[in-house]
Amino acid sequence: MDLLTKTLFLCLALALANGAPAPGADEEADAHVAVPDRCEGIEFDAITPDEKGTTFFFKGCHVWKGFHGPAQLSNEVFKELSGINHSHVDAAFRMHNTENTDVHDHIFFFQGDKVFSYYNHTLEDGYPKQIQEQFPGIPSHLDAAVECPRGECTADSVLFFKGHDVHVYDISTKQVKTKNWPHLPVCTSVLRWLEHYYCFHGHNFTRFNPVSGVVNGTYPKDARNYFMKCPNFGHGSHSMVPKCSDIKIDAITTDDAGKTYLFRGPMYMRLDTHRDGLHPFQITRTWKELTNGVDAVFSFMDKIYMIKDEQVYIYKTAAHYTLIEGYPKTLKEELGIEGHVDAAFVCPGEQTVHIIQGKQMRTVDLSASPRAVTADMPLPIADIDGGLCGPEGVTIFKGSQFYQYESVMILAMGKIFIIPQDVTPAMLGCRE
Ligand SMILES: *[C@@H]1O[C@H](CO)[C@@H](O)[C@H](O)[C@H]1NC(C)=O
Ligand SMILES: *[C@@H]1O[C@H](CO)[C@@H](O)[C@H](O)[C@H]1NC(C)=O
Ligand SMILES: *[C@@H]1O[C@H](CO)[C@@H](O)[C@H](O)[C@H]1NC(C)=O
Ligand SMILES: *[C@@H]1O[C@H](CO)[C@@H](O)[C@H](O)[C@H]1NC(C)=O
Repeated sequence: MDLLTKTLFLCLALALANGAPAPGADEEADAHVAVPDRCEGIEFDAITPDEKGTTFFFKGCHVWKGFHGPAQLSNEVFKELSGINHSHVDAAFRMHNTENTDVHDHIFFFQGDKVFSYYNHTLEDGYPKQIQEQFPGIPSHLDAAVECPRGECTADSVLFFKGHDVHVYDISTKQVKTKNWPHLPVCTSVLRWLEHYYCFHGHNFTRFNPVSGVVNGTYPKDARNYFMKCPNFGHGSHSMVPKCSDIKIDAITTDDAGKTYLFRGPMYMRLDTHRDGLHPFQITRTWKELTNGVDAVFSFMDKIYMIKDEQVYIYKTAAHYTLIEGYPKTLKEELGIEGHVDAAFVCPGEQTVHIIQGKQMRTVDLSASPRAVTADMPLPIADIDGGLCGPEGVTIFKGSQFYQYESVMILAMGKIFIIPQDVTPAMLGCRE
């Protein structure tokens, strides 16, 4: 039996085994044997996040929910899907269209010439439709699909993959531009994850640029090391996730766009993208000059200031971070201070940065030139790792604990005794 027939047969058996009336014991046994193990190396049919940020991996009539755990039948999760003709999903993506909230965050599945739209795991009225009806100019029997929001693509778009052709569908104008990327493997599924684009082929994946198709870095990589939890696999990122009781951060910052970054050793992690899960990356992946980690980081206007030893690196925040010409500069030159910096933060709407060095907090006016210290105050606590300032006040991190102050003044006065609290997985992405 070839693989396709075998898969169809198993799906049918499973579909029967799953419903009443009960089939013979043989099919039951088959049903248990047939559940695939993604740690054996699976070529997925489709991968997509849902509106809550859970990533679903499809293969035949099975689906895996999230990055770990066993497979289940896809029609248990998306009822109408694999029920139809027991066929597999060709492609899937989560719509990103902030201009049209009726479709934003809806999941679209493709099977043959049909498209299905789900929200809240419920098939929407009027579906399935012909692909041509919903996405004019897009072929049937797709290999993969992925959303590409404006900023990452020139407009809110969907990339449809078939062979080496990529059909770029502009959601608002419905214009299709077809590109050919022969250098990229044929993708059986494509996932946008944490603003990066991954083409899955075999049990491997290749990261590519969604506009140019350019592949940078060493690919393919084995998906089992990154996108699923398998025994004997993993590039160490799981072991990089520390226990909350052991954590000690180097720096933390939130920029004007609401992106929160935590820095620890050679790694950083986005904390605001819970919807895609938490995942540590090498700092050099995003800020390539920072090969030795950071001591303190703060965000001001559209820039991120990163301090390591006596150097200040200023990066412009756009789709990518670019080091501003002439940097790094010394702390003295840039901020009018010297010595090791433990933490730094800017409060929303303010033009000053609060720099913590040992038991002192120095305030520097960022609108003045040259910059100089405008206030120097002793602090009630020392050995601070990082600080954040937001609408609720100042949060100071020290080891596995944090202190919450209502304002910078209350922190500096040191008259009110603040009880430290333990950091939580939700705050810093650490393990219980
Ligand atoms: C399922 O099969 C029937 C009969 O072959 C066909 O008419 C229908 O279009 C198929 N459905 C899908 C979603 O492919
Ligand atoms: C989502 O679906 C569940 C049942 O499947 C239902 O109870 C719930 O009200 C739905 N939520 C929304 C926001 O439609
Ligand atoms: C996966 O990638 C490795 C190189 O990293 C390559 O040797 C292997 O042939 C690839 N396997 C598949 C199934 O694509
Ligand atoms: C690929 O990497 C090089 C060197 O790091 C960089 O200059 C280039 O901009 C990157 N290209 C893309 C498309 O990311």
